[in-house]
Amino acid sequence: MKKEFRDLLKEKGRDKLPAVLLAAAECAPLSKTGGLADVVGTLPKSLAALGIDARVITPYHRVIKEKYADQVEHMFYFYVQLGWRREYAGIEKLVLDGVTIYLVDNEHYFGDRIYWGGEAEGEQYAFFTRAVLDALPNLDFQPEVVHCNDWHTAMIPMLGRTQYPGGMQENLRYLLTIHNIAFQGIYSFDYVKDLLGVEDKYLTSEFMELNGCANYMKGGLVFSHKINTVSPSYAREIMMPYYAEGLEGILNARHDDVSGIINGIDKVTFNPRTDPLLPAHFDRGHRKGKAACKAALQERMGLEQRPNVPLFAMVTRMTEQKGFDLVACVLDDMMSREDMQFMLLGTGDSRFENFMRQAEERYRGRLCAYIGYSEELSHLVYAGSDFFLMPSRFEPCGLSQMIAMRYGSLPIVRETGGLRDTVQPYNQYTGEGDGFSFANFDAWEMRDTIHKAIEAYYKKDVMEGLITSAMKADFGFELSAMEYARLYLCML
Ligand code: ADP
Ligand code: GLC
Repeated sequence: MKKEFRDLLKEKGRDKLPAVLLAAAECAPLSKTGGLADVVGTLPKSLAALGIDARVITPYHRVIKEKYADQVEHMFYFYVQLGWRREYAGIEKLVLDGVTIYLVDNEHYFGDRIYWGGEAEGEQYAFFTRAVLDALPNLDFQPEVVHCNDWHTAMIPMLGRTQYPGGMQENLRYLLTIHNIAFQGIYSFDYVKDLLGVEDKYLTSEFMELNGCANYMKGGLVFSHKINTVSPSYAREIMMPYYAEGLEGILNARHDDVSGIINGIDKVTFNPRTDPLLPAHFDRGHRKGKAACKAALQERMGLEQRPNVPLFAMVTRMTEQKGFDLVACVLDDMMSREDMQFMLLGTGDSRFENFMRQAEERYRGRLCAYIGYSEELSHLVYAGSDFFLMPSRFEPCGLSQMIAMRYGSLPIVRETGGLRDTVQPYNQYTGEGDGFSFANFDAWEMRDTIHKAIEAYYKKDVMEGLITSAMKADFGFELSAMEYARLYLCML
């Protein structure tokens, strides 16, 4: 064990690091719609390396059942009281890469969609919340810290502390990590009273009320012992109304309990030297394989076979958060005036999906819009592209830019949240940097930055320097895990 942890333990009069249960709606590689899953899948492995027994509890979504049913062990079942409903909850156990994952089974709530959307999603995750709290005392494991993630699990601390007095709850500590404050779980008072039996006294501005509604995220922010988000910059940004989506009041009130811990990526899964999803391999010193990946990507996606044209890529949820308005605003100007190729892999808002499908018609051979979700294709896109565009309106952390850098694709980002904390913009005077960035959420600023990136593309020594720095950056989870370990310890 690290000396720092030994000292901290001594201060607390303890001899063991705390056991931790992470609760989340998705967990890679079992289920995934975005970066939350990556983090929940990777963090426990890095915590284990520090000597922390960290386990995960997550819904047994149908996608998991389809792939892992024969590896799962049934532990026990019970019935969850959800308002007037009594719902079956099975607890299954799966050990993957040495990490124990508890899966909450219910065919109705965890069927074909990880997120139901709309009001029903509040019931879906109310069920999960109740199932986790009811299962806790009966698991073959006694956590001291319950680490909740985003609004889907934010009610666990509130209900745990208000409805489950005594017993193991006395000693439990709750951490809430905000991965995205734009999603809060907002419902009517009657709805949460019915589903979760929340008492009237908690439906006030002091507790979970915001703008006349019950807000799951706010409940979590009030009742968690500590709060963190996924980058230092986003931790500062969410103190301001522009980013906090109405929660700046409670966040400022709890300012001393809020911190920012940057995410990492799984360096084993995302390794261009060994990635089984790539047709050729490469590393910082030997990049021939990257050229082969670019050729393979061009061929597969119907792009012209040209090794020396700058290939820009996006792998993303297609939402406003990710800056699609900016892309839509300048795409035609870019495609008609620059010699470039553009590859999009994404899914999301239909207006953005349609816009990109139509653009593909206009620029066939130079632009490809693959509308959908494909883990496998995403690796080839990271490896085969020269530049990776991420012009987010806000970005709590962002994993895609880190993955892109590891695969030698230079990020072009807006300076916000985790993008600001992970990308060092190119300085044309010193040659330093590992990507490109622009300050304002402005389409023409982005356009200008893309033009600068294209100019750099034709300067061999500049590109060499930038790609080398990008591939050198260490975004492993080890440092983040250390910070989480410190945070867990200081909560005890
Ligand atoms: P967010 O969680 O906000 O979507 P992140 O950058 O943190 O953004 O994480 C996104 C993760 O999801 C990355 O691992 C990225 O490769 C993956 N991803 C996003 N969209 C797709 C897609 N259409 N197909 C495959 N992977 C995707
Ligand atoms: C959210 C954020 C993203 C972050 C991810 C993992 O989806 O949008 O920025 O990287 O969570 O923390």
